[in-house]
Amino acid sequence: MERNYKNTYQQSVEDPEGFWGEAAEELVWDKKWDQVLDASEAPFYHWFSGGMLNTCYNAVDRHVDEGRADQNALIYDSPVTNTKQTYTFRELQDEVSRLAGALKSQGVEKGDRVLVYMPMIPQAVIGMLACARIGAVHSVVFGGFAAAELATRIDDAKPKIVLSASCGIEIERVIEYKPLLDNAIELSSHKPANTIILQRPQAEAQMLEGRDLDWNSACEKAEPADCVSLAATDPLYILYTSGTTGVPKGVVRDNGGHAVAMLWSMKNIYNVQPGEIYWAASDVGWVVGHSYIVYAPLLNGNTTIIYEGKPVFTPDAGAFWRVIEEHNVSVMFTAPTAFRAIKKEDPNGELLKKYDLSNFRALFLAGERCDPPTLEWAESLLNVPVIDHWWQTETAWAIAANCLGIEQLPVKAGSPACAVPGYQVDVLNNDGEPVEDGDIGSIMIKLPMPPGCLPTLWNDDKRFVDSYLSAHPGYYLTGDAGYKDEDGYIWVMSRIDDIINVAGHRLSTGAIEEVIAEHPDVAECAVIGAEDTLKGELPVGLIVLKSGVERYDGEIEKEIISLVREKIGPVCAFKKVVIVARLPKTRSGKILRGTMKQIADCKSYKMPATIDDPTILDEIKVALKTIGYA
Ligand code: COA
Ligand code: AMP
Repeated sequence: MERNYKNTYQQSVEDPEGFWGEAAEELVWDKKWDQVLDASEAPFYHWFSGGMLNTCYNAVDRHVDEGRADQNALIYDSPVTNTKQTYTFRELQDEVSRLAGALKSQGVEKGDRVLVYMPMIPQAVIGMLACARIGAVHSVVFGGFAAAELATRIDDAKPKIVLSASCGIEIERVIEYKPLLDNAIELSSHKPANTIILQRPQAEAQMLEGRDLDWNSACEKAEPADCVSLAATDPLYILYTSGTTGVPKGVVRDNGGHAVAMLWSMKNIYNVQPGEIYWAASDVGWVVGHSYIVYAPLLNGNTTIIYEGKPVFTPDAGAFWRVIEEHNVSVMFTAPTAFRAIKKEDPNGELLKKYDLSNFRALFLAGERCDPPTLEWAESLLNVPVIDHWWQTETAWAIAANCLGIEQLPVKAGSPACAVPGYQVDVLNNDGEPVEDGDIGSIMIKLPMPPGCLPTLWNDDKRFVDSYLSAHPGYYLTGDAGYKDEDGYIWVMSRIDDIINVAGHRLSTGAIEEVIAEHPDVAECAVIGAEDTLKGELPVGLIVLKSGVERYDGEIEKEIISLVREKIGPVCAFKKVVIVARLPKTRSGKILRGTMKQIADCKSYKMPATIDDPTILDEIKVALKTIGYA
């Protein structure tokens, strides 16, 4: 029978063990699994229990052993430093095993955590793979987070060592990482024993004698370390993501299920064959970077691109086309916001005319819903399939997608197409019953989820169950709301919680509110995600001052903006604050954030039946107008 989407999907849900067992045969195992799916501790499911393997072996050494030693594994392209550099699989193996040796010589062992706080340079990837090689659990923190956020993650993951660099570069600005790291370690209760710092020429880091080690000398002195055999269920990494409070969730990834899912997805979703050049223009600090800059392409024997630049201004809106042409990229993955940025600078795609993209086959977008105008603009410009696909940090790979490697389904702009094989996606109402096609509800995934999805939260099984599995037994709560249409296409429309999406980055408005509330003049506040044509959403703060505070000179707003930048980081893009006399609430005291968002976005809204005082909404509208909304 010819393979198509329908029969592949059917097989994956009717016989998940057969389906994923066959996919797992594509990897090199030190010992085969005893069970493909171990449900003995449900709702905690374990994939490939009893199996032993090493993810780094499969991503790097395997290709050296099997004939790809001289193929490029990494291409580093950095317009911000004017650098290009390549690493073959053999060179990558050498770099990774030397750093792994350096980690070992500092006492890092299997199960120890290593925090990685790095810009988009090859050493970030080398650092992650070195951890995977010796069974250390990496936790990468995005460079745009502030010291306090870094400190929270240090306290939760308790790393033995931190890998970092002296600086990152944001277009033309040099951002010194080391003072941020020093500050974070000062703030945290847990103190990592050592740091290994890569000195970059753009800024020299001050080293603390006895604690900070120089990256290059640590590697030069180190004895290369070999891959250790790990249980499929051993953790590979922890990646923190926004929860509904200020405390981020430590999403855990296992080794076996993750490697199986990553490898399967490259061929079946992205339709990329070993040897091809694949580019995910994201950052290793996000899940997209973990999965599609590092693990999936390398597991599949692809060349992956590490791009230290932006879609625009490095140097212009033709940057993506230049990289695609120059490195012969077959398939690219980025966030819709990047395309909106390009469209803003070069609406007619004039810069594209300078480049030859004849080998470019498909563009994948994720991180936020792709608005139809952006999708259509990209399609008409590039003349290749533009595929929106939906996933989240927790899953590590797409829940819904148009799987180009199986069968290309018709594209419906605004929908990420259908459930990916392995995922049973249902839309449920508040009582946990499936809704009719076309009706909006909570999008949930029936347990067990396929390999690759989070087995739990770091050191917090209870929070895992409370946050994701308790809404409706037998289901995982995605936190997204939407509907399915009559063709089984999923339409992801909004969040059901306080998460907002800023330039493809997931942020908690609750966490921003917690920081604002620390300001001594603030009585209460609300943060909403207002629509933004470039970044999708932007956080907007509405502040009520304590009685008696009489500074109306704009200083308080500036202080609040700086406080959020200092505590959460620039990634938050928090620049809009307005002071109001009071906030609209229900009679039981719940702040009506949803209604304020509708007002900010100029959308019609229904007067909430339980509103305490409807006249407040007019005041909110006037206030929002003063900062360019409503
Ligand atoms: N280290 C330090 N600071 C960082 C940083 C890093 N790694 N990454 C971003 N920042 C800073 C930026 O300099 C900016 O600071 P500013 O407020 O002083 O200007 C702020 O954080 C917001 O950054 P960013 O979201 O990148 O916004 P931008 O306005 O600089 O650029 C886009 C807008 C659309 C070009 C940009 O968001 C982009 O390229 N997005 C691609 C999508 C993406 O990677 N998504 C990830 C998931 S797939
Ligand atoms: P993150 O965990 O940071 O990757 O963010 C995941 C969240 O981003 C999802 O739960 C959605 O709310 C949103 N998201 C990601 N991709 C899409 C998409 N293709 N369509 C709609 N929403 C998306």
